[in-house]
Amino acid sequence: MLIGVDSPSILDPKSDAASSIAELWWVMLVIATLVFAVVTALVLLAILRRRGGAGDRLARRLGDNRLLAIGGVAIPLLILAGVFVLSLSTLRDTAPADASEEQGLRIEVTARQWFWDVTYPAGEIVTANEIHVPVGEPVTISVESADVIHSFWVPELNRKIDAIPGRDNELSFTAAEPGRYRGLCAEFCGLQHANMGFYVVAEPAAEFESWLGSQAEPAEPPTEAEARLGKQVFDRVGCASCHRIAGTSAEGEVGPDLTHLASRETIASATLPNDREHLREWVLDPQHTKPGAKMPATPIAGAEIEPLLDYLQGLE
Ligand code: CUA
Repeated sequence: MLIGVDSPSILDPKSDAASSIAELWWVMLVIATLVFAVVTALVLLAILRRRGGAGDRLARRLGDNRLLAIGGVAIPLLILAGVFVLSLSTLRDTAPADASEEQGLRIEVTARQWFWDVTYPAGEIVTANEIHVPVGEPVTISVESADVIHSFWVPELNRKIDAIPGRDNELSFTAAEPGRYRGLCAEFCGLQHANMGFYVVAEPAAEFESWLGSQAEPAEPPTEAEARLGKQVFDRVGCASCHRIAGTSAEGEVGPDLTHLASRETIASATLPNDREHLREWVLDPQHTKPGAKMPATPIAGAEIEPLLDYLQGLE
């Protein structure tokens, strides 16, 4: 996995809404290229014209008021009006499904400095930074913020939507094919704005249902002795004051939910791959990876980190 390197493109649309945006982009590129070519040709003509030659006669005609009205006012107005109408149609294609249409699966996303809380109200499921959706079914995401203004953006699936404190903004899309779609925060929100990524994982309905089922389960108590020791370390150093692990005494709501941490592909809001070494690096010194992040260094003495990692990696 190439974290931070796989850059999503609006020109690689994977939903009808994103296709509409890509089409508008191409149409505007063609129009802009044509206008640029015509204007460049006229400028060259003006530079190269010879007094009394063919260029001069054309230049005099272009100086004509009627030509000025057509080339300088009528044509630009027509082009701008055309693009405006096209934009309106794209706006409609990318708008959230309203109550009269099928809104489909509803997911609530809360942006925070600097990660994404994800809730599936239907299953009372809470997760973070990884949003699973079924392929070919409409999904409506309700976005808000717990602190400053952020912007939720999955370029391959739809347009941006602002995450504003105290306000629910909605975004709908239907993923056309299975895949992992990189999402990002598109509104400057502080020091770690650039490390506020996430993934939308679109999968076939059966796989999605099974994911939903496993996420709805509370965390299983650790079975291995090491992991049990790890849970004690987790409780003693105070992880639970910020993090929630369903089915345990950990009910913190400040940081990302960790109930099924091990099932996610990334940690630190799609900043690091979710493997043992990166987990260790993150837990011991989050400020090294994300300076300014709300998570402090974990006060753990030497060898105790191993059982803690055992416990965290067992949260599947
Ligand atoms: Cu959150 Cu930028």
